[in-house]
Amino acid sequence: MAPGAIEDTAAIVPPISETGLKKNIAPASARDALDAAIARYTAANQRSLELHRLATGSMPGGNTRTQLHTSPFPLCMRSGEGYQVTSEDGTTYTDFVGELTAAVYGHSHPVIVQSLLKTVTTVGINLGATIAQEHVHAAAMCERFGLQRVRFTNCGTEANIHALAGARAFTGKRKVVVFAGGYHGGVLMFAGGKPAANNIDRDDFIIARYNDVESAQAAILQEGVAAVLVEGMQGGSGAVPGTREFLKGIEVAAKEAGVVFILDEVMTSRVAPGGLAAIHDLHPDMKSFGKYLGGGLAFGAFGGRADIMATYDPRPQTSTPMPFLTHHGTFNNNTLAMYVGHAGLTEIYTPQVCTEFNAMGDRLLRDLAVVTAGTKMCFTGVGTVLGSHFTAEGLQTIERETAEDWTLKELFWFEMMESGFWITRRGSIALCLGTPESELQRFVACVAEFLKRHASLVVVGTKD
Ligand SMILES: Cc1ncc(COP(=O)(O)O)c(C=O)c1O
Repeated sequence: MAPGAIEDTAAIVPPISETGLKKNIAPASARDALDAAIARYTAANQRSLELHRLATGSMPGGNTRTQLHTSPFPLCMRSGEGYQVTSEDGTTYTDFVGELTAAVYGHSHPVIVQSLLKTVTTVGINLGATIAQEHVHAAAMCERFGLQRVRFTNCGTEANIHALAGARAFTGKRKVVVFAGGYHGGVLMFAGGKPAANNIDRDDFIIARYNDVESAQAAILQEGVAAVLVEGMQGGSGAVPGTREFLKGIEVAAKEAGVVFILDEVMTSRVAPGGLAAIHDLHPDMKSFGKYLGGGLAFGAFGGRADIMATYDPRPQTSTPMPFLTHHGTFNNNTLAMYVGHAGLTEIYTPQVCTEFNAMGDRLLRDLAVVTAGTKMCFTGVGTVLGSHFTAEGLQTIERETAEDWTLKELFWFEMMESGFWITRRGSIALCLGTPESELQRFVACVAEFLKRHASLVVVGTKD
């Protein structure tokens, strides 16, 4: 443990004895501590429990978005304002879930609200025709993210599906290189180094190791590869950043092999004004997007090189023999996402705001590294997108999918809720604009206090 790292912050942690946490000092095991935390959670959130019971009557498991199901029952949120969300049980939390990175603008930012209202009252909801605003938002995205052409979809999953189809049509090849632990959407998941049971095209993927240049290059150089699809930081695996060497290695190998390099920026386009590609000076052939770029509404986009995107050009082709791909979708150009997404990107998330916001995240990550030193816990991430991890060895950085202690992870989740922080159960954090610096400091102090409270379970070298 770093000398004094845990002890020194205790003084600034607000009292939490009323939550019952303090009664739980030095439990016999992580499992005992977790059981006690679950019992307190259940007692404190009876309305959420009741709503969950009702929901199971009409949805399998009471759920329509797997990520949000948690045992023994999910916390049900009633409303959000600014950087906070309030549960149906009446508790207000600092929102560190940040809608899995989509809620950059927080909840009901005045610019977003104004744009929504103006669009509804002066434009209308969808006109069954192209609208002028499409190219306005498209041009802004092309400029910001270095794209020659872009098309809009309804989510990041669709964006990746269409980007892959474009790469396949362009190269005339079928195989796609992806990485163990990669997440590219609800039907494009590779946890555990295998395509998920409900993935599309399950036989067409070559799965290489993340942050392993040799593994990536060997896969890319195989016969029949159309594209390599990679996250610059693996979000679903817990904000595990790709190294520059790894990402550059992919770029070089893809270029050599004539393989289309697709950078999935669905989560990472927010971490720098030009997205994560700009941080590492990457020049992928295509990129996919989603999340906050629709202003908080359902949104996705894919774009990049004009010659590859030309596979989607519906005009009669005279000069190129490439197959033409259709790209249907009732809501592809929906008025709300086109106007509100553009207002958010150009009026709120300017390059300067983006830079300052992510510098705040970098500072948070540095402070968390100090208080977690010498423990089984660490935080990873880039800018305002972070992940928390508990490893038996007390790793201080995570390079790829790693076995984690889920009992400690869950214990952390339940106890952070008791301290007023809403984070994802898997431990990911995505900050919202407007979160006060004091709240970040309080979080660091609460993490330190958690580690101190459970020192017998979390200090490296101790056993559950
Ligand atoms: C890297 C990445 N790609 C794609 C997606 C899919 O986006 P959506 O949920 O909008 O379909 C996500 C969603 O979290 C993601 O993190």
